[in-house]
Amino acid sequence: MQITSLDEYKKNYQLSIDQPEEFWAGIAEKFLWKRKWDKVLSWNFSEPNIKWFEGAKLNITENCLDRHLEKDGDKPAIIWEPNDPHRDSITLSYKILHEQVCRFANVLKKNDVKKGDRVCIYMPMVPELAVALLACARIGAVHSVIFGGFSAKSIADRINDAACKIVITADGAFRGNKQIPLKEVIDDALIGCPTVERVVVLTHTRTPVSMLKGRDIWWEDEIKLVDTDCPAEEMDAEDLLFILYTSGSTGKPKGVVHTIGGYMVYTGYTFANVFNYQPEEVYFCTADIGWITGHSYIVYGPLSQGATTLMFEGVPTYPDASRMWQIVEKHKVNILYTAPTAIRSLMSFGLEPLNGIDLSSIRVLGSVGEPINEEAWHWYDKNIGKGNAPIVDTWWQTETGGIMISPIAFVTPTKPCFATLPLPGVQPILVDENGKELIGNGVSGNLCIKFPWPGMLRTTYGDHERCKLTYFSTYENLYFTGDGCSRDEDGYYRITGRVDDVINVSGHRIGTAEVENAINMHSGVVESAVVGYPHEVKGQGIYAFVIFPKAHEDETLTRQDILKTVTRVIGAIAKPDKILFVSGLPKTRSGKIMRRILRKIAEGDTSNMGDTTSLLDPAVVEEIVLKRNTMDKLELKGK
Ligand code: PRX
Repeated sequence: MQITSLDEYKKNYQLSIDQPEEFWAGIAEKFLWKRKWDKVLSWNFSEPNIKWFEGAKLNITENCLDRHLEKDGDKPAIIWEPNDPHRDSITLSYKILHEQVCRFANVLKKNDVKKGDRVCIYMPMVPELAVALLACARIGAVHSVIFGGFSAKSIADRINDAACKIVITADGAFRGNKQIPLKEVIDDALIGCPTVERVVVLTHTRTPVSMLKGRDIWWEDEIKLVDTDCPAEEMDAEDLLFILYTSGSTGKPKGVVHTIGGYMVYTGYTFANVFNYQPEEVYFCTADIGWITGHSYIVYGPLSQGATTLMFEGVPTYPDASRMWQIVEKHKVNILYTAPTAIRSLMSFGLEPLNGIDLSSIRVLGSVGEPINEEAWHWYDKNIGKGNAPIVDTWWQTETGGIMISPIAFVTPTKPCFATLPLPGVQPILVDENGKELIGNGVSGNLCIKFPWPGMLRTTYGDHERCKLTYFSTYENLYFTGDGCSRDEDGYYRITGRVDDVINVSGHRIGTAEVENAINMHSGVVESAVVGYPHEVKGQGIYAFVIFPKAHEDETLTRQDILKTVTRVIGAIAKPDKILFVSGLPKTRSGKIMRRILRKIAEGDTSNMGDTTSLLDPAVVEEIVLKRNTMDKLELKGK
């Protein structure tokens, strides 16, 4: 299944275009099926209706666990590195992971969780989190993991949208020097969640929690009541595996739906190829399982390939900026997959944290989540890879399920800042705003995909129309990614960033509309507009222009109040980096906010505002520029 030369890549790519069904059937053969498919693919992008491996029966956990037991039962499946470097790390062999998954699957069954039921998971980065995901998959329940940084309200919205029956959580989470009281947040969320019947709580931080009689149970107690025998439920290839909520340019987050067969084949295939994983290697992805990267490339992709996957509970800068490098040295990590924001943040500490650390185990480096800037790319290459480790800059999305455009390590010649070439089976095209295909090289436009791939989303949970509108209606018969992209003279792709109202903060997608809604919930706010602006570490920061007519007693306090409001409504991850109080917003006569102008102001590029004649009140722009300059000066003084 592994491609080892450029020629082989080209041959595979051509085959995947000419005979996609034969190509993917060949890959799928390498997995374990209880029954093979009747048809590899049926599809249309107009409804959309996409089915891969129809008629096939399987259980993804047999592919991730059972099938490795005979040969690799004692091989480490998960190595867990705790937040506190003084605590011991934990290694779970495939045999032990299998046992734990079966046991917890029986806990779910005992608590009346059935095939098709939705399970909300809100947990720290501990091995039990991976166990919880796999236990759901074992019995055919659908997991919906929510990142630990979301607020009670965000959790409640997601739980209600999916009508979850049960929540799996922990007393708390450690993140650097902070503790997050997960159970307390869940208790707040559940006030408005009538569908939840049970809450399973894992002891982790020993934070005191209140346990509600008849609803809340302890993980540790429950696993004692069941055994480790849990046959894998027979599932259809197109049954739901999970829902993962993601922000878009409008409205509330969408529940992206992935189904079992195609997702398994796609994440397994891309993992094995992109990272060139070798049997005894240790692979470390620094993402959180709360995001798609963790689902696809900490849990399902690596485990289906029998890999050793390292899970880290903490943050790269705790207790100091050498932590990530210490982990690489301690566990002899061979493949490191992280985000540009982490690289930039660690880069800012200089080379001192690398002193005396042996990074010679590193063979492949990966980047994901946002465009990697040239400086960070070179720093990563020179200081971490020592010029010998290929950097795979992997472009993909929650909706694509797995990596789409990326170098294949040791196969595709890399180029700084370029995601390079599409993986086999991926047919990208660039279009102009009218949907006209831009042919040839040396062009840039909007990135679309014109043919299905097995890992793609099938729907948005409970609202298929929304899926159609968001991804398949902008351009006829194309999946629209929302990203801008160029293709250079070598046919290499370079992603330039979102072209919609989505901000990519530290590799996380945040919809401007969502942040505006949250800000507007503050009682003193009349209206707000949010845009992204370049941020040295986060890639993009959140800039909020806020109309707050009442005189401030203390502007700093009002800002803090607004930040608190956003934290309550969405979560700390959506807090604006800058808030500028204004008396009006630049609007067209039809009342539409001209974000283009606000973006320029936020970037500090006010020399040429472009055409402002369609503005209702052009004077408002001058006022905003003036206020921004004053705020900048004050900030400078404060430093
Ligand atoms: O804008 C692209 C950016 O992240 C978006 C997808 O975000 P999310 O669904 O949260 O998934 C992130 C992890 C896969 C994309 O639309 N993005 C992701 N990877 C890259 C990237 N931009 C440039 N280069 C990348 N390698």
